[in-house]
Amino acid sequence: MTDRKQAKRLIYIGLPLIVVILVGAALSTYFWQMRLQKPQEINMAHHQMSAGRTDMAGMEHMESMEEFSSEDGAVSCASITAQESSESTRKFDLTGTRTKLKLDNGKTVDAFTLNGTTPGPELRVTEGDRVIVTLHNNDIEDGITIHWHGIEVPCSQDGVAGVTQDTVRPGEQFTYTFIATNPGTFWYHSHQMSSIQVSKGLLGALIVEPKKRFESDTSTSEATALYQQLGSSMLLNGSTRGLAVPGKPGEHVRLRLINSGNETIEFNVDGAPYRIVAMDGHDLHEPGLLEGTIVPIGAGQRYDLLITVPESGQVVVSGPASMSLPITIGSGSQPQYSEGGQMFSFVDYGTPLPNDRVLQVKPDRHFDLKLGQNLFVKSINGKSFHEIPPMTVEEGDQVLITVSNEGGGDHPFHLHGHTFRVLSRNGVALQGSPVYLDTLLTKEGETYELYLEANNPGLWMVHCHNLRHASMGMSMMLNYEGVTAPYRVGTKSGNLPDL
Ligand code: C2O
Ligand code: CU
Repeated sequence: MTDRKQAKRLIYIGLPLIVVILVGAALSTYFWQMRLQKPQEINMAHHQMSAGRTDMAGMEHMESMEEFSSEDGAVSCASITAQESSESTRKFDLTGTRTKLKLDNGKTVDAFTLNGTTPGPELRVTEGDRVIVTLHNNDIEDGITIHWHGIEVPCSQDGVAGVTQDTVRPGEQFTYTFIATNPGTFWYHSHQMSSIQVSKGLLGALIVEPKKRFESDTSTSEATALYQQLGSSMLLNGSTRGLAVPGKPGEHVRLRLINSGNETIEFNVDGAPYRIVAMDGHDLHEPGLLEGTIVPIGAGQRYDLLITVPESGQVVVSGPASMSLPITIGSGSQPQYSEGGQMFSFVDYGTPLPNDRVLQVKPDRHFDLKLGQNLFVKSINGKSFHEIPPMTVEEGDQVLITVSNEGGGDHPFHLHGHTFRVLSRNGVALQGSPVYLDTLLTKEGETYELYLEANNPGLWMVHCHNLRHASMGMSMMLNYEGVTAPYRVGTKSGNLPDL
């Protein structure tokens, strides 16, 4: 081949290639910009109006805008606070600080800490306690908030920047007050620029101990295992090593697994059969023994496992090998790691409640949410964030929500201020224990029917708990009629709940 021919050939192949690369780069920066382009100012109680009248495709029983815009008898979210109670009060202080944090593997990361650590301190209270937490911001410029994930707090205490409060700037503080009505495993995290601040460390565990233990609760000890993604490191209770839980043979250990990262973690349990006794802080009814079953825990979810320490040997609870953050329980010899296994499904786990009244309800409202993506944004019903019309309900409504995952990976569907009941998966009604969640892991192609009672008036975020997806638009509102937003989301106020 002559040099000329070769040169010609290069041009024929090279030029189009360069053009394709350039166009690709231009397009992706354009969409990246679009994604970063945040609105100036939005009222999350009325955003579907300021965004122009949107069509209500997929949203049945939507009230007319006129009715909704009437402010007669309106109540501000800020005025919805915790009721007086004579219960005991528990007070805490949390202080957010920017730090260069040295991990126990020697790596240094740029982190945000609460009281000097990430995760922040585990807050432990008793069911019924009045919990008062003062959040201080030392020096985190964008401001911070704390959201009480899974706790049904009054609207003004939900910790969502631009919806229920303004972001807490350096030098400022904000005091949260709520009643810990339900015992269980919960967690807390910032809801200002959540995809950034949670992965930098602004989170912690919140355990509500029951006032009186259920008869079925045979645990003799317990341990919290909080998994988090800090920058590029996976941590378990703040450590890059595993967790050793002491336990004598025959002891029943309640293991509270919390996934605060963005990805689903699949757990293997080796060495003993076990039970899943609670999901998202809600006990399951007569949970059966499991063995060799893998437990997939979606982002934001919590699973409580009840594990009996075997006579000779340890139990090892481990995520994927790549994560290598095992939890060992007991002190005997290590069990064999089991490869594979069946995925846990709650559809037929445990037993139904006798006289389950929820199964008789006739919903007043029905919403249909399709989680997916178009091009570079994550969407719900084809729209993203403030362009998605809110689900609007009235206090007392019985609400049915159909959620389908139409692609783009796992979408852990999270709803603020409420606990929902999972009624069916892919058209099949749940046959086992009732399942109450605040975060539902949905896999591609799955459809779930959820039921909830509109019993907590306010303005509530609904979003994917892969917070990166939320920041790309998979975030919307469940609003009660007549509740107004005292704060604004947008670049003007600097309140960016899910950036
Ligand atoms: Cu755990 Cu809106 O979040
Ligand atoms: Cu998602």
